[in-house]
Amino acid sequence: MEYRVADLSLAEFGRKEITLAEHEMPGLMAMRQRYGATKPLAGARIAGSLHMTVQTAVLIETLIELGAQVRWASCNIFSTQDHAAAAVVVGRDGTPSDPQGVPVFAWKGESLPEYWWCTEQILTWPTGQQPTMILDDGGDATLFVHKGLEFSRAGQVPSAQPGDSAEYGVILDTLRASTLDFATLAASIRGVTEETTTGVHRLYEMERDGALLFPAINVNDSVTKSKFDNKYGCRHSLIDGINRATDVLIGGKVAVVCGYGDVGKGCAESLAGQGARVIVTEIDPICALQAAMDGYQVAVLDDVVGNADIIVTATGCRDVVTAAHMASMKHNAIVGNIGHFDNEIDMAGLEATAGVERHRIKPQVDQWVFPDGHGVIVLSEGRLLNLGNATGHPSFVMSNSFTNQVLAQVELFTQPDAYPVGVYTLPKHLDEEVARLHLDALGVRLTTLSERQASYLGVPVEGPYKADAYRY
Ligand code: NAI
Repeated sequence: MEYRVADLSLAEFGRKEITLAEHEMPGLMAMRQRYGATKPLAGARIAGSLHMTVQTAVLIETLIELGAQVRWASCNIFSTQDHAAAAVVVGRDGTPSDPQGVPVFAWKGESLPEYWWCTEQILTWPTGQQPTMILDDGGDATLFVHKGLEFSRAGQVPSAQPGDSAEYGVILDTLRASTLDFATLAASIRGVTEETTTGVHRLYEMERDGALLFPAINVNDSVTKSKFDNKYGCRHSLIDGINRATDVLIGGKVAVVCGYGDVGKGCAESLAGQGARVIVTEIDPICALQAAMDGYQVAVLDDVVGNADIIVTATGCRDVVTAAHMASMKHNAIVGNIGHFDNEIDMAGLEATAGVERHRIKPQVDQWVFPDGHGVIVLSEGRLLNLGNATGHPSFVMSNSFTNQVLAQVELFTQPDAYPVGVYTLPKHLDEEVARLHLDALGVRLTTLSERQASYLGVPVEGPYKADAYRY
């Protein structure tokens, strides 16, 4: 079996944590019970690009139990949990010297060329086989296939242009060296299921431009994904990342959260819960008003950056914290990003600042010292800090997200004719079903509508209960 992970001897520890996680992931366990016998994913070859964590291991093994074959990479250079990756490669029945599990290409601390090599590996199946599905987080595997086909049709991979990011240059280099047949590859893919806000944004852009090659299910906008993982997940894992990275007392400090969407709401709540004085920045008047009515000061970053002790970006936008902002921060202000890509904080601009010096405190924690002597502490080199400095979201919330992923994979794989090329969300009854699967574990008792009440509300007794426009 092909694979590349850090150390297979970590598999036993990984397996113990996976077993604990299974107990906390009732939605995924229910998928195994419901579909384990009928195996709706038999014949599916899934190329997965999503943080290779303990929780993702439970997702991967659920997909296998439903009949799929899987190859996996992480969607971030720092997010892999090496013990989880090892356990997935070794599998339940294998040993480190005789691995029997899944080909995984992921380790914590990949370089960018290694990262894109790993992405290529999940699309490179044994001779005569092609992947039939992509499971993506942030859209990098989807991007790789689209760019590969675009350049193979053009007859050559272009050179990077001035203004292109360093990462784009690496993608171009990887594609130039690739021997993949992108026409056959793209034609074999029935669809992609996308995990996160930023990846979904890319899909809608491709659909708008007529460039999308295959259908996509937007998993992010299932209510049981974005209103839970993005919010409650980040509420847990933001401060976990800050604590593990710095162990600084959060109470009493001034913390700025840039962006008050689902992720920003969770971040602001957790920082306030620790007693921080939270300031929010927003571009959207609705979210700005929400932040104000939730009790936060809303300001522009330029006005408050000099007073902040902790600055977190959660926007999915670029250039939110600039090198100039960092130059005017307090000594040892903590700067971190929890959005998907590393362009929220201008790391290139920081590096290019005359006289600035980088001091590595420990992996994924750097102090950048300016010529005037003040330093800023940057987490995970500007990449998402909750997965770089900690272990991401806990199992229970990821069970909601990943149950949506499994349902979306089954839907697209088993009903390809129902989904012409386009971007779709799962129907509301499945969203409600995902929530239902997580109630017992929390001891939640749901009220059942009477027939009379249901007809008064105009909804079926068994749901769905809300119109599509309802915002939760
Ligand atoms: P969202 O769209 O709900 O929220 C983003 C908010 O940022 C919006 O309200 C928007 O108006 C605001 N914004 C945009 N540009 C801004 C700027 N320049 N300054 C201030 N505010 C600005 O998106 P969501 O779901 O909150 O996701 C945010 C990012 O986090 C995305 O990149 C997403 O992929 C990522 N994400 C990361 C997770 C993690 O575990 N680290 C989990 C889930 C999502």
